[in-house]
Amino acid sequence: MIKVITTIEEMKKIIKDEKAQGKSIGFVPTMGYLHDGHISLVKRAKAENDVVVVSIFVNPTQFGVNEDYDVYPRDLEGDKARSEEGGAQYIFHPTVEEMYPYGYQTFVEVFGITDKLCGASRPGHFRGVTTVVNKLFQIVSPHKAYFGLKDAQQVAVIEKMVRDLNIEIEVVPCPIVRESDGLAMSSRNVNLSETDRQSALVLSKSLFKAKEAIEAGIQDAKAIYLIIEKNISEEVSVHIDYIKIVDFDTLEDVTVIEGRVLIALAAKVGKVRLIDNIIMEA
Ligand code: PAJ
Repeated sequence: MIKVITTIEEMKKIIKDEKAQGKSIGFVPTMGYLHDGHISLVKRAKAENDVVVVSIFVNPTQFGVNEDYDVYPRDLEGDKARSEEGGAQYIFHPTVEEMYPYGYQTFVEVFGITDKLCGASRPGHFRGVTTVVNKLFQIVSPHKAYFGLKDAQQVAVIEKMVRDLNIEIEVVPCPIVRESDGLAMSSRNVNLSETDRQSALVLSKSLFKAKEAIEAGIQDAKAIYLIIEKNISEEVSVHIDYIKIVDFDTLEDVTVIEGRVLIALAAKVGKVRLIDNIIMEA
């Protein structure tokens, strides 16, 4: 039976005991409402470690004031069943007060790459992410931590934090899992109306068209940008936040598609902000 741990003290003790028995620890940080994308990380962690811990914590410090913290979906019972199926032994599920007690004053911030893409539209977002991930890393102290490339910038930011702060945890990036029609799986998809769910398909479709064009030989980033923009603009209920074609390591804009390039976008569909991306090795 999977165990739900709510206090930092108990989680640390369990990890200490598991490590004392020589067990390797794999960690999957999440905000819950788990879908097959999350579970792909749990399965990967299970395949590569003795013990798997999934954290479920809707982290208030990474949400802006007008964002969806209050309506972020939650379902602990479903998450328990899914995590267990995926092979996890523990869920770490602290309260906000446990993670940020009265008087909490410390933040971890990566500069530079956090100003771009989602960081530009969500000021303070990555500061919240790096702060909570750092705290979770201290508490769970895993050998390996698993992150999805659905949030490609998040992977880049966490990797930078780990390097810069000499954290001895291996960050393992994992591929995006999609619905059968192409929509990238997201906990937020549940907040889409039926018609918005249909409109949202234009996001992955436009990225797949861009991929085809690159594979057909187009290397001009502007031309690729226009293919994506034109496709998305045809859906009136989809409002583009950004479409970016950047170097995967620096997140700087590229003009020519060569090397490892990240094509990332964010858009509002109805009230829901969605992101998607593809990585091209050209
Ligand atoms: P959350 O959005 O719940 O995502 C948890 C992990 O699942 C992230 O690493 C994310 O990239 C991955 N993931 C989400 N959808 C995916 C998909 N369709 N395919 C593959 N992986 C997917 O990301 C966060 O939570 C938070 O920022 C967190 C890191 C937990 C810090 O609060």
